[in-house]
Parts: sequence; structure tokens; C-alpha cells
Amino acid sequence: MRSAKDFFTPLAVGAPAPVREVPARPSRMIHFFDPSNEKMAAKIPAMVGTVDVLLGNLEDAVKADNKEAARLGLVAIAKATDFGDATQLWTRVNSLDSPWVLDDFTTLVTEIGDKLDVIMVPKVQGPEDIHYVDRLLAQLEARAGLTRPILVHAILETARGVANVEAIAGASPRMQGISLGPADLAADRRMKTTRVGGGHPGYLVREDPGIEGINGPRGTFQQDLWHYTIARMVDACAMHGIFPFYGPFGDIKDVVACEDQFRNAFLLGCVGAWSLHPAQIAIAKKVFSPSAADVAHARRVKAAMGDGTGAVMLDGKMEDDASLKQCLVILALAEQLSA
Ligand code: GLV
Ligand code: MG
Repeated sequence: MRSAKDFFTPLAVGAPAPVREVPARPSRMIHFFDPSNEKMAAKIPAMVGTVDVLLGNLEDAVKADNKEAARLGLVAIAKATDFGDATQLWTRVNSLDSPWVLDDFTTLVTEIGDKLDVIMVPKVQGPEDIHYVDRLLAQLEARAGLTRPILVHAILETARGVANVEAIAGASPRMQGISLGPADLAADRRMKTTRVGGGHPGYLVREDPGIEGINGPRGTFQQDLWHYTIARMVDACAMHGIFPFYGPFGDIKDVVACEDQFRNAFLLGCVGAWSLHPAQIAIAKKVFSPSAADVAHARRVKAAMGDGTGAVMLDGKMEDDASLKQCLVILALAEQLSA
């Protein structure tokens, strides 16, 4: 079977040593829409080419009474739309223990399996969930005569899922990536946050009492509630050659905090995030694309490193084989985005 890795191009920038791959098709923002919402659905064709991923959501945020309308709405949109090369079509199906999911898989693969790039599976608990989806997809694809396998993306949103994240990441060659699902995960773990994908101002560190001449008045700093989970997810994905994503940020008006959350995830190794509103598309595009300064620096290091081995001093800083690899990741991403 064709594996997820076949969808990704290896770095082609003359790397002297093997380095991480980048997604062959950019996936900086996974833009969610509700296919049962006619007003929202009508805007989808015009978004093709402007976003990396359009995702028809069938799960949470779609009312139970609208599940069928959402599923059929997605079929109608997919059939009527040419998504071209720049935009992928994904869906988020209902959870595997729901009464709707079997119809989601059956209808979508049969009707629009040739258009769907990735199926996002929520509330994945362990590799057995991915094995089930893998077999079901294989059966439905065979029946529909599909030759291109549909990839699978898991949402990490239960404590059990986090505990099993490495096994989930490696559960099938269909695995494309994993997203953090902070709202469900917070509920499952009894965490307390003030907004979806955000933290809590009460989760802080307070400076020790000041010592005159060393530190000033005591300050407090809010800590990141998601650091542990994102770091685990990034490691699991890196280990299996798939891609980690930040999930949703629900406070649409707070574009500053959204950008901060996305950037922290990018710096930790994530390749994209969900966008829940058009305002978040531009934020994700900015954060998950390398900056001009980063690309210029990477080019300088690459040029200075010659055959890619040894060490050089640039602006008083040591660069070597390892730091060159970081630069090659940036250059590969820049090259891919300009392609
Ligand atoms: C996403 O599905 C979440 O629960 O945060
Ligand atoms: Mg969720």
C-alpha cells in the first residue's frame, strides 16, 4: 500500500545528512467549516487556492439534528468543487463510539473518496482505533475502486490518547499527522482553562521575594498549560515521520493570543494549526511560514558551511552540521511554499 510518506517530498536542498521531511503539500491552516450551514458552505468554493486545507466538520459543533445534513452537504460541495493542487479537502468524522460515524465513513468514501485527502478522527484512544479505521477504509476504498489511499489524522483529546500517542502515530502507514484537541483534553483531564486552546491566568509562577540589586519587585508569569502535550505529540510524530498540529484557538477576537499559541507550537515543531474563522487563516499563514529573516539566515549558514561538515563562526555564533540541519528544514519549507 502507498504510505503517508509517499505524499511527502524528502528534502532536496543538498543536505549532507538525512533530515526531517516536510509535508509535500503545505498544511499550515486546517480551515474548519460546517457543511450543514448553507451560508458558510456557499463561501467554500471561493476559498479554494487561498487556504492549504479546507475541512468539512461533521463532529462537535454540528448539532445532532444536523449530522446528516452536514454529511450530505459535504458530499455536494466536494462533487461541485475542483480543489486544485493548492488546497486539500479533509473531513472530521464523528467519534468512533457515536451513532453517526459508520454512515460518515460509508457515505463519504463511496461518494467522494476520490476527492478526500485526509480523514480526521476525533477522540482517538489508542492504536486499535486507527487499526479499525484503516481496515474499514481499505474495505470501502476497494468497494469504491479507489486507487489512492485516504490518509488519517488523529486528534489527541483524551488522557488515554496522550498516554498512547507514540503507538497512535505509528499505527498505520495512513497516518498523516496528529492535532492537539485542547477542549476535550482539558475536560478529560479535569484541567481548567478560560478559553478553547488557551490557558488560565491562575496557572502561573511567581518570582521569589526580590533581593535588592538583583531582581526587582515580584512579578508573575502565566505558564503554558499545553507545553507537555505538544512536546509529547511532536516527539511521537517525529519518531514516525508524520506531522504535529496545534488544534483550535476559540477566542476569535484575541488575535494576539492566537498568534502566540500558534507560534509557540511552531517553535516546538508543529507544522500547522486549525483555523475556526477567516481571521485565523492569515495568522496561521504568517506563523507557519518561515520569515524572510529566517530564510536569509539559513541561506548564509548553508553557504558558509560549504560541504556541510565542520564548524564556522557567523556573527560570533558557532554553526555546525547540526545547526545546518535546522537551517535546511527552514529552506525546504520556504522552497515548498514558493513552489
Ligand atoms: C477539539 O476537538 C478540541 O476538543 O479541542
Ligand atoms: Mg474535541
